[in-house]
Amino acid sequence: MAFPPSFIDELIARNPIEDVVGQRVNLRRSGANMFGLCPFHGEKTASFSVAPDKGIYYCFGCHKGGGVINFVMELEGLSYPDAVRNLAKRCGMEVPEDEQYQSRYQAQERLWALHKEAARFFHSQLYAPIGKNALNYAIGRGMPKSTLTKFGVGYAPDSWDMLVKAMQAKGYTKQELIDSGLVTESKKNGNIFDRFRDRLMFPIIDIRGNVIGFGGRIMNNNDPNAAKYLNSPETLIFNKRKNLFALNYAKKSKLGYLILVEGYMDAIALHQYGFDCAVASLGTSLTEEHAVLISRYVEQVVLIYDGDEAGQRATRRAIPILEKAGIRVKVLQMKDAKDPDEYLKKFGADKFRLLLEDSSNRVEYQLNAIKKKYDLKEDDQKIRYVHESAELISTLHSSVQREVYGGRVAEAAGISPDAMKLEINKAYKRRVARDKKEQEKVDLAPVRSLQPKARTIRYDNMKSAMAEEGAIALALLDPSLMDKEQNLSGSSFSVPVLGKVYDQLLAMHQKGMEVTLAAVTDLTSDEMSHIVGVCQRREGPVNETAFSDCAKTILSISQASKVSTDDDLMAFRNRLKESKGTKQ
Ligand code: UTP
Ligand code: MN
Repeated sequence: MAFPPSFIDELIARNPIEDVVGQRVNLRRSGANMFGLCPFHGEKTASFSVAPDKGIYYCFGCHKGGGVINFVMELEGLSYPDAVRNLAKRCGMEVPEDEQYQSRYQAQERLWALHKEAARFFHSQLYAPIGKNALNYAIGRGMPKSTLTKFGVGYAPDSWDMLVKAMQAKGYTKQELIDSGLVTESKKNGNIFDRFRDRLMFPIIDIRGNVIGFGGRIMNNNDPNAAKYLNSPETLIFNKRKNLFALNYAKKSKLGYLILVEGYMDAIALHQYGFDCAVASLGTSLTEEHAVLISRYVEQVVLIYDGDEAGQRATRRAIPILEKAGIRVKVLQMKDAKDPDEYLKKFGADKFRLLLEDSSNRVEYQLNAIKKKYDLKEDDQKIRYVHESAELISTLHSSVQREVYGGRVAEAAGISPDAMKLEINKAYKRRVARDKKEQEKVDLAPVRSLQPKARTIRYDNMKSAMAEEGAIALALLDPSLMDKEQNLSGSSFSVPVLGKVYDQLLAMHQKGMEVTLAAVTDLTSDEMSHIVGVCQRREGPVNETAFSDCAKTILSISQASKVSTDDDLMAFRNRLKESKGTKQ
């Protein structure tokens, strides 16, 4: 992805980070930096910082960080080139042609167009003679024509090549069809055939309105091995970890919250009955990416998963993922029906609305789940119920909440509120002690705690990695330091990502451009966040000696043909222990 460095340099200069961030975040100046509430995770105290002089942002809470381009990528969910285009537009710069980007974008556009054509094709088949059974099935499941039209529901005929032929007639190539995931290529002879056959088709539409994939429901049970729902595979335009069914509609809802359900049919039924804020995950469990996406639109989610054990497990899993993204979670438990679709058809929208109003916050839900596990008539089970509930309640920050929920548990268990309070306090102390122990473990194993969180970065040689971090941090503070160590280049670095960053900083300096992390390209957002974090935490003197110490370490380790990593780690540990010892 090669935009000319001089272009990126100018782009960054013309889009001051405090202005771009300031459009979304209320920033207050404090010394050289500015602070505000982090837009990437929910918080009440400002831990999100912007350093205008360095051109970077960093959140001390969620540890996301980067330059102005990363900020736009993260906030708008854009790719690097799209974020660059966005900023170029903002300051009225023309984007130089980039062939790689152009061809990728063109391929995406072809796939979007192909999917739109395919959706049209499937929809028309639903009303053709060949689709009679499918139409009857859809109507039989309570979808009127208005719903079929709104969601673009269609039918993939029972044929090996009707879609292939229809799309080839529109000029799409075999390769494009393969890339779309709508056809399958035979390993034997390389022929292609329709992936979806004899299925009711639900187009999956992204927030910008592009059809990006399909879910297809089987309508007969002839083949016991066939999946009930078949979904598009991952493609250039379809990532099910990042998309939710019906979000294109739900994002416009005025209800102020989202309802998250398991199935396509559940989401469609909810919309049909007036709950226009329903979305479904696409045959995967909820991901962090989903939660972040949701948090852009609402602060509250009502979870309605199926009542079975799998649904309950999915609920337990989803709660912390959503809360981590700053979303308040409520849980609605289905009674007398398997899922919302079934419920609405049995009891109607009014009854459902009552259920929705009655949906409990996640603490009530979790306390109920604990209660269900025990038979409160048995003394030993009662004790375990009190114990486990106290553990949960002790995690609540508000004393009012602890009092209210504690009181409820006490009543259910037939013990006094005071006895319950005691239990909760004990649980609290146990937890604090446990946390302290955990923290001590982390402190005693510095090597592990220094390992980057970004999954693509691994520090195999900790000593070198620490020196590499240092060299980068120092070079950013005083680029002229790099002149003194001509031998040092990224190729000597033990961590490829750090080497890549150093080379880019060096190139900026040599071209006479401003040396800033904001102009570093070709990193994932996790990698960028890690590096900004490293520089943010860096303390100590900025001088030639400090820099040349780093350089020496890096060069000597890379030159030693075979370095025993274990010895290094031991040495590093000892050094750390020593330095701790001298401080105290
Ligand atoms: P369910 O089996 O609970 O079906 O799957 P459902 O939504 O109630 O569907 P209907 O009402 O029988 O038509 C829930 C969701 O899990 C995914 C789909 O996204 C489905 O909507 N799923 C299920 C699959 O991806 N593949 C399957 O084979 C089954
Ligand atoms: Mn169902």
